[in-house]
Amino acid sequence: MQALINTIRSLPHARMWFACLGINLLIGVFYSVALIAPASSVKSAWLPGKTTHGHYQIELDCNACHDPSKSEDSMNASDVMQDACIRCHGDQLKDVDTHPAKKFNDPTNAELLATLDAQNCLSCHAEHVPHQTLSMGLTMPADYCWHCHKEISDSRPSHRGMAFDSCATAGCHNYHDNSALYEKFLDDHFGQPDHLSLATVPQRDTTSGLSGSEISNTLWPMPASKINDADHPKSMQVDTTLLRDWAETSHAAAGVQCSHCHLSDSNGQESVTWSNHVPMETCGQCHERQVDTFIEGKHGMRLAVGLSPMTPAQARLPMNHDAAHRELNCNACHNDHRFDTQFAATDACLQCHADDHSLAHVNSPHGELWRDEVLQKHVSGTGVSCATCHMPRLTDNGGVWVNHDQSANLRPNEKMAREVCLNCHGLEYALSALADEDLVRNGFDAEPSKRIESVQMARKWFLDRATKRRKKP
Ligand code: HEC
Ligand code: HEC
Ligand code: HEC
Ligand code: HEC
Ligand code: HEC
Ligand code: HEC
Ligand code: HEC
Ligand code: HEC
Ligand code: HEC
Ligand code: HEC
Repeated sequence: MQALINTIRSLPHARMWFACLGINLLIGVFYSVALIAPASSVKSAWLPGKTTHGHYQIELDCNACHDPSKSEDSMNASDVMQDACIRCHGDQLKDVDTHPAKKFNDPTNAELLATLDAQNCLSCHAEHVPHQTLSMGLTMPADYCWHCHKEISDSRPSHRGMAFDSCATAGCHNYHDNSALYEKFLDDHFGQPDHLSLATVPQRDTTSGLSGSEISNTLWPMPASKINDADHPKSMQVDTTLLRDWAETSHAAAGVQCSHCHLSDSNGQESVTWSNHVPMETCGQCHERQVDTFIEGKHGMRLAVGLSPMTPAQARLPMNHDAAHRELNCNACHNDHRFDTQFAATDACLQCHADDHSLAHVNSPHGELWRDEVLQKHVSGTGVSCATCHMPRLTDNGGVWVNHDQSANLRPNEKMAREVCLNCHGLEYALSALADEDLVRNGFDAEPSKRIESVQMARKWFLDRATKRRKKP
C-alpha cells in the first residue's frame, strides 16, 4: 500500500490521482455493502435495468428470484428462476393455462419447442430489460403466436387475412388464461342483452368472511359486546368516539373484544401486554383468506417477501401527495374502529389513487349507481364501487367472501368480465368495453366504441359445423 502511495505521489497531478483512488474505494465499499445487505435499497445499484411493472415493488428482494443458495454460476440460471416464478405464480395459472408446460410433452407438440421454448417462463418473460418489455411483462415480439399456429388461416376460414400480431388482441385470445374466451363459453353467452334486467352482484354473507385459527377454536359469532363491556385496561384513557365506533359495528356485534386485537405481539401471537399496533397476522387469526389473498396481490406483495409495507411514495402510478407515506396494511382501507366496508370500497381507495381512471369513476354511471346504493335509494348489490371490480365477491361452498388480491382479475382484463361484468352485462358488451382503452381510462363513462366479434364468430363456427355434419350422409 505504502509503495502504491509513493508511486502516486511521484506522478504529475498527484492530487487528482489520489482523488480518483478515493472515489474508487468508496464505490467499491458501496457495492460490497449492497451485495451483502439484506433487501437494502443500495442493492438496486446492481440491477442491470429497470424492473417490470409487475415486480419493481419487490425488486430489492433479489433473492425472491435469484437463488443465492445455488453456486455463483447457477444462481441466475433460467431453471433456478423458473422455480421461483412457479412458486409465486403456479397456483394462479394452474387451472386456467391454455399452454401449460405439460402440453408440450406430447411428441407432436414437442417439435414446436424448437421454435420457442414455451416450457420456460423466461423465453417470454425476461427481467430488467425495459427496452423490450411490453405490457404484462412480455419480452417477446407480439407476433410469436403465429410461429406455432401458422396453419390457422387454413383450418379456420374466418381467420384468413388477419394480421400476424393480432391473435392476442383484447377480446380475442390470451396466451395463458382464456377462461372467458374459449369457444364454448363465448357461444353459451351469445345473444345476451347489453344490460341484464337483474343487475346485481352477490350479497356478502357474514360468516363466510371468517376463517383461521381463532375461528376454528371458538364458536363465532359470540354474544354481542356492549360499550361498557370493553375489556381494555381500565387505566387506559379511551376516546369515546373510538368506543362508540367499536360498539356500534360488526366486531362488537359478534363479540370481538379490544383484547382480541390488542393483546398480540408483532407476529400476531397472543401476548399479555397491550399494544396499540395491530399487525396483519392478528386479523389473519379470524380472517385468514383475506390476509392470504391480500399478500398475493400488488398491495401486499412487499409484505409477502418481508419488505416494509408499500406506500404511495414508492408507486409508479399517480397517487395523492398527502397520502405519500401511508402504509398498505389492513387498516389502509379499514381505518378507525368502524371497519366500514362501504367506506373501504371507494372512498378509501381515493385517499391514495389519483390516476385518470380512478378519478373518473366517481362521476361515471357506475359511480352514480354506487352513490345510490350507499344512500339506500337502490338495493344492496346494484352499485358499482372500485371494489366491485377490483375486489370481487367470490362464491365458494355456498358462501360469499371478498377476494383481497386486487391484481387477480386485473390483467389481462377479460378475467374481470367473467367474475364481475357478467353479473350485470352481456359477454359481448363486457368484452367490447374492456377492450376499449379510452373507456377504461375515462372510468367506463360511455358506450363501447367498437364491438368485439368473438362471440359472433364462435356462434357462426358452431352453426357451420352443425350444418356440415347434417350434410354428411
Ligand atoms: C421478480 C424476479 C426478479 C427479481 C426480484 C430480481 N431479478 Fe434479476 N433477473 C430476473 C430474471 C428473470 C433475469 C433473467 C433475464 C434474462 O435471462 O434475460 C434476471 C437477470 C438479472 C441479471 C443479469 C444476469 C445475467 O446472467 O445476465 C442481473 C445482474 C440481475 N438480474 C440482478 C438483480 C438484482 C441485483 C436484483 C435485486 C436488486 C434482482 N436482479 C432482482 C428476475 C429478477
Ligand atoms: C415473490 C413472488 C414472485 C416471484 C418470485 C415472481 N413473481 Fe411475478 N408477480 C408477483 C406479484 C405479487 C405480481 C403482481 C401482482 C400480479 O400481477 O399478480 C407479479 C406480476 C407478474 C406478472 C404480471 C405483470 C403485469 O404487468 O401484469 C408477470 C408476467 C409475472 N409476474 C411473471 C413472473 C415470472 C416469469 C417470474 C419468474 C422470473 C416471476 N413472475 C416471479 C410475484 C412474484
Ligand atoms: C410463449 C410465451 C410465454 C411463456 C413461455 C410464458 N408466458 Fe406468461 N404471459 C405471456 C403473455 C403473452 C402474457 C400476456 C397475457 C396473456 O396473453 O395471457 C403473459 C402473462 C403472464 C402473467 C400475467 C397475466 C396472467 O394471466 O396471470 C403471468 C403471471 C405470467 N404470464 C406468468 C408466467 C409464468 C410463471 C410462466 C412460466 C411457467 C410463463 N408466464 C410463461 C406469454 C408467455
Ligand atoms: C410454442 C408454440 C406455441 C405458441 C408460441 C402459441 N401456441 Fe397456442 N397452442 C400451442 C399448442 C401445442 C396447442 C395445443 C394444440 C392441441 O391441443 O392440439 C395450442 C393451443 C391453442 C389454442 C386452443 C386452446 C384450446 O384448449 O382449445 C388457442 C386458442 C391458442 N393456442 C392460441 C394461442 C395464442 C393466441 C398464442 C399467442 C399469444 C399462442 N397460442 C401461442 C402452441 C403454441
Ligand atoms: C378488530 C380489531 C380491533 C378491535 C376489536 C379493537 N381495535 Fe383498537 N385498533 C385496531 C387497529 C387495526 C388499530 C390501528 C393500529 C395500527 O395503527 O397499527 C387500532 C388502534 C387503537 C388505538 C390507538 C389509537 C388509534 O385510535 O389509532 C387504541 C387506543 C385502540 N385501538 C383502542 C381500542 C379499544 C379500547 C378497543 C375496544 C373497545 C379496541 N381498540 C378494539 C384494531 C382493533
Ligand atoms: C377474534 C376474531 C377477529 C379478529 C382478531 C378480527 N376480526 Fe374482523 N370480524 C370478526 C367477526 C366475528 C366479524 C363479524 C362477522 C362478519 O361480519 O363478517 C368480523 C367482521 C369484520 C369485517 C366486516 C365488517 C362489516 O361490517 O361487514 C371487517 C372488514 C373486519 N372484520 C376486518 C378485520 C380486520 C382488518 C382485523 C384486524 C385489524 C380484524 N377484522 C380482526 C372477527 C375478528
Ligand atoms: C384496498 C382496500 C382494502 C384493504 C387493504 C383490505 N380490505 Fe378488507 N375489504 C375491503 C372492501 C372494499 C371490503 C368490502 C367489499 C364488499 O363489500 O364487497 C372488504 C371486506 C373485508 C371483510 C368482510 C368479509 C369478507 O367477506 O371478506 C373482511 C373480514 C376484511 N375485509 C378483512 C381484511 C383484512 C384482514 C385485511 C388485511 C389483510 C383487509 N381486509 C385489507 C377493502 C380492503
Ligand atoms: C394507502 C394507499 C392505498 C389505498 C388505500 C389503496 N391503494 Fe391501490 N395501490 C396503492 C399503491 C401504492 C399501489 C402500487 C402502485 C404502483 O406500484 O405504482 C396500488 C396498486 C393498486 C392496483 C394495481 C395497479 C397495477 O397497475 O398493478 C389496483 C388495481 C389498486 N391499487 C386498486 C385499489 C382499490 C380498488 C382500492 C380500494 C378498495 C385501493 N387500491 C386502495 C395504494 C393504495
Ligand atoms: C367497472 C369496473 C371498474 C371500476 C368500477 C373501477 N375499475 Fe379500476 N380498472 C378496471 C379495469 C378494466 C382496469 C384496466 C386493467 C388493464 O387492462 O390494464 C382498471 C385499472 C385500474 C388501475 C391500474 C391503472 C393503470 O394505469 O395501470 C387502478 C390503480 C385502478 N383501476 C383503480 C381503481 C379505483 C381506485 C377505482 C375506484 C375509484 C376503480 N379502479 C374503479 C375496472 C374498474
Ligand atoms: C352491479 C352491476 C354492474 C356491474 C358489476 C358492472 N356494471 Fe356496467 N353498468 C351497470 C348499469 C346498471 C349501467 C347503466 C347505468 C346507467 O345507464 O345509468 C352500466 C353501464 C355501463 C357502461 C356504459 C356507460 C354509459 O355511459 O353508457 C359500460 C361501458 C359498462 N357499464 C361497462 C362495464 C364493465 C366493463 C363492467 C365489468 C368490468 C361492468 N360494467 C360492471 C351495471 C353494472
